[in-house]
Amino acid sequence: MAHGLFTKKPLEMLLAEAEGENRLRRCLGPVTLTALGVGCIIGTGIFVLTGVAAHDKTGPALILSFGVAGMACIFAALCYAEFASLTPVAGSAYTYAYATLGELFAWIMGWDLVLEYTVASSAVAHGWSHYFQNFIGIFNLHIPVALQRAPFDYFPATGQIGLTGSVFDLPALVIAGIVTLLLVKGIKESATVNSTIVIIKVAVVIMVIVVGAFYVNPANWHPFAPFGLSGISFFGKTVAGQTGLGGEPLGMLAGAAMIFFAYIGFDSLSTHAEEARNPKRDIPIGIITSLVLCTVLYIGVSMVLTGMVPYDKINIDAPVADAFAQVGLPFVQFIISIGAIAGITSVLLVLMLSQPRILLAIARDGMIPEKFFGAIHPRFRTPWKSTILTGAFVGCVAAFLPLRILAELVNIGTLLAFAMVCTAVLIMRYKRPDVERTFKAPLFPLIPILGILTSVLLMFSLPVENWLRLGIWLGIGLIIYFLYGRRHSIMAKLDQDESVRK
Ligand code: ALA
Repeated sequence: MAHGLFTKKPLEMLLAEAEGENRLRRCLGPVTLTALGVGCIIGTGIFVLTGVAAHDKTGPALILSFGVAGMACIFAALCYAEFASLTPVAGSAYTYAYATLGELFAWIMGWDLVLEYTVASSAVAHGWSHYFQNFIGIFNLHIPVALQRAPFDYFPATGQIGLTGSVFDLPALVIAGIVTLLLVKGIKESATVNSTIVIIKVAVVIMVIVVGAFYVNPANWHPFAPFGLSGISFFGKTVAGQTGLGGEPLGMLAGAAMIFFAYIGFDSLSTHAEEARNPKRDIPIGIITSLVLCTVLYIGVSMVLTGMVPYDKINIDAPVADAFAQVGLPFVQFIISIGAIAGITSVLLVLMLSQPRILLAIARDGMIPEKFFGAIHPRFRTPWKSTILTGAFVGCVAAFLPLRILAELVNIGTLLAFAMVCTAVLIMRYKRPDVERTFKAPLFPLIPILGILTSVLLMFSLPVENWLRLGIWLGIGLIIYFLYGRRHSIMAKLDQDESVRK
């Protein structure tokens, strides 16, 4: 068989590889996996971006935005769960694409996941920095202005990108460094730290909902959708809803596309399939339980937040903590800041844990140098070299690029990944109905089709620059593929070996 752009990696080969040597340690059970999911989901999205979204794009209709984004994620999650039960090896959507759509799409997917995890980590490191600064501010401590944030940002009030007066975001850089060190040490330790943090942050989120409910003033929910209920643009031209000063769509759907970031992370569980004790059962459990739990909590928090503070007075740096300061509960603000800092740390931990595992899967297939990206530390059994590289990249991007721009870029990349996974599930059901699936997405083919449609709809609800940035990112990826990956891939090698034998 000639090695072409659409050559697929046989499913049997994937499964056989999962049994081989040089594998990661299988130590994660269903509870730890669900905790990893929640650990990666609740973070900067709910604690920081809710403020930007409610203030600039949705008003109280943010509550519906969370519902819509959650729905799109549930469709995709069911498809991820089905795939994880089919091919429980590291690499997540990348691996799924190699088995169904062929090598070129697998590469695009892998490269897209690098965008998702690495750039998301940078965005999350920013969120950490916002809350950290809010927290030390309670004690009247401040980081010098030059080291507070990224040097430039987008200002919706003027519709322009301008300078912030800072040089770089020091706290974001520091937290990326600390998390990298922890991850090199080992997944078991990382998972234990994560589980502890998850308990703290879920408790804080429940506290926000319960205490905040007493301070809700229903008058704040009127007008409910000051920016409208839509917000879709087609490559820069608004086709539904209002337009912001910078040309970006506004409204409930535009808000959903932005706070979609809050849900990212459940998919990272599928990158840990190789470290799960019983991946075929426990990965689907972890994905679905963590996502449903977070959706309920998010809707609760957004109701309380928009009910406590008029939407145009919501703070955009640390909105949840600030809402409690605004109603005269500084002590609660203190607890929330601690919960948010701990919570966002665990998101960073899991995202930065996932990235090297995707690189590992791509490296094992030869499309990036295996010597570097496939190196597993002899004692810690972690992909240490790529963990350090990921950490360095995350730290630098977080230091210099602003949260808003990073978060939207991550969203478009992740939505593309979701649409591709849903497509891959559709294809696989028709092509390989024979393979055992311990979990099947219900109502087939409705769920994968809805997953594709909702993901694409949200992609169009993001400002147009994101399409351009995604295009540039994928373009760079294609150059790397044609210069290196295509010639070194495992399927290319198999093909050469076959020709030599003939
Ligand atoms: N969902 C993650 C967060 O909100 C990425 O921080």
